Amino acid sequence: MTFQAVEENDIAFFQQCIGINNVRCDRDSQLHYGHDETEDLVFPPEVVLLPSSRSQVQDIMRYCYQRRIAVTPIGARTGLSGGALCVHGGVGLCMEKFNAILDIDLKNLQVVTQPGVITQILQEAVAAHGLYYPPDPSSRGSCFIGGNLAENAGGPRAVKYGVTKDWVLDLEVVLPNGDCIHTGAKTLKNSTGYNLTQLMVGSEGTLGVITEATLKLIPMPQHQLLMLAAFNDEQKACDAVSAIFRAGITPSALEFMERDAIDWVLPFVPDHGLLISDEVRAHLLIEVDGRHLDSLMSDCETVSQVLAEFGCDDILFAEDETQKNKLWALRRRVAEAVKSNSVYKEEDTVVPRHHLAELLAHVKSVGAKYGFQSVCYGHAGDGNLHINIIKGNSSDELWNHQLPMAITEIFEKCVALGGTLSGEHGIGWVQKNYMPIAFDAVSLDLMKSIKNVFDPHGILNPGKLFPDPQPIHS
Ligand code: LAC
Ligand code: ZN
Repeated sequence: MTFQAVEENDIAFFQQCIGINNVRCDRDSQLHYGHDETEDLVFPPEVVLLPSSRSQVQDIMRYCYQRRIAVTPIGARTGLSGGALCVHGGVGLCMEKFNAILDIDLKNLQVVTQPGVITQILQEAVAAHGLYYPPDPSSRGSCFIGGNLAENAGGPRAVKYGVTKDWVLDLEVVLPNGDCIHTGAKTLKNSTGYNLTQLMVGSEGTLGVITEATLKLIPMPQHQLLMLAAFNDEQKACDAVSAIFRAGITPSALEFMERDAIDWVLPFVPDHGLLISDEVRAHLLIEVDGRHLDSLMSDCETVSQVLAEFGCDDILFAEDETQKNKLWALRRRVAEAVKSNSVYKEEDTVVPRHHLAELLAHVKSVGAKYGFQSVCYGHAGDGNLHINIIKGNSSDELWNHQLPMAITEIFEKCVALGGTLSGEHGIGWVQKNYMPIAFDAVSLDLMKSIKNVFDPHGILNPGKLFPDPQPIHS
């Protein structure tokens, strides 16, 4: 697919449309908006646009649609699959000025928000009213709600509360041709027509630009208890995960960290106070939440019994908020710790939770076969294992040529176990050529047809989601 380059008269149009200060063509802006958190990839847009109203977004889209200029929606650039990378240059449509929370409806427990609001800021705003918006990706301090919607982000609390898609009632979306639609209603139930809301969530900015979202809220759980369980055997740690659910407990978070993950992150959390013996191979971080402390204590008892059955007798119960925050920081900062050590590739595999141990064993055996180091951690309760493949001193031959084969083997195993390629990071740019592992040609063609209905000229976030015409990993 070819697109028109951005020319002087296009810039003049954009300047007149959104103001000269909101049109950036300088090199610093191109580089600043040309990357997200995916590996070390940089794809600068030709021009960065910073609109601040829906009608401006409509004008931009209508214009680019007619001119056949590529447009890539950009949020906070915290993504891990390259969804916001401007791989065809063109316009980088940054939504950071859409940063208002428009309404907190205390009677219906809903919030209407613009997409450029930072997730944690939204959570804190509703928490001030005793309300809870649970999806909390590790990047919640900097990621935007819009990006969470685009990628269907998850995070630790998804295991009890679901991922972003489970909290969306209605979206306002500007389509590639500049038309604007609402996808749903401000209701908890909706059996009215095709579910365009859920089609839009997770579509990675390929179908439309989200300009407003109505999200569901619930009352804030009053208590949380947190425990860190150490295991001398990773496989047993993984097997304990599904046993906890079978014992009747649904934790509000159930996270896994293999030994390397915790070793790498320890220096990032000052005064963590943890002493980890040499034998420990993995940890589970387990949280339960609810309204009644007594019942949570009893849940912790049950969890401890299950953990003991899987050989864990070393459980640290967080004593106070400070200790809880430290334990959570250890988990949330793993990605940052890995990134500061080496370039790495992040796979976001997901399998039915009882197959976690088998997936982990497979990852390690593929690593041994191809000769790469991996650091694994993630949302064990969801069967969602983040596999960080470390570049370190790997040869370019391994990194560029053999690794795709190794990753193919890992994804094939996921699918064979009933899982799939991505649980919460999306396909974006870096996973797209693996899509045929998860979908047959009929399904992929159907998805392409849907894309074509929304975006017949293919201008919106081109180069994402769909495999290259001649996939290298078929
Ligand atoms: C996390 C991000 C990488 O779970 O999804 O920390
Ligand atoms: Zn995650």
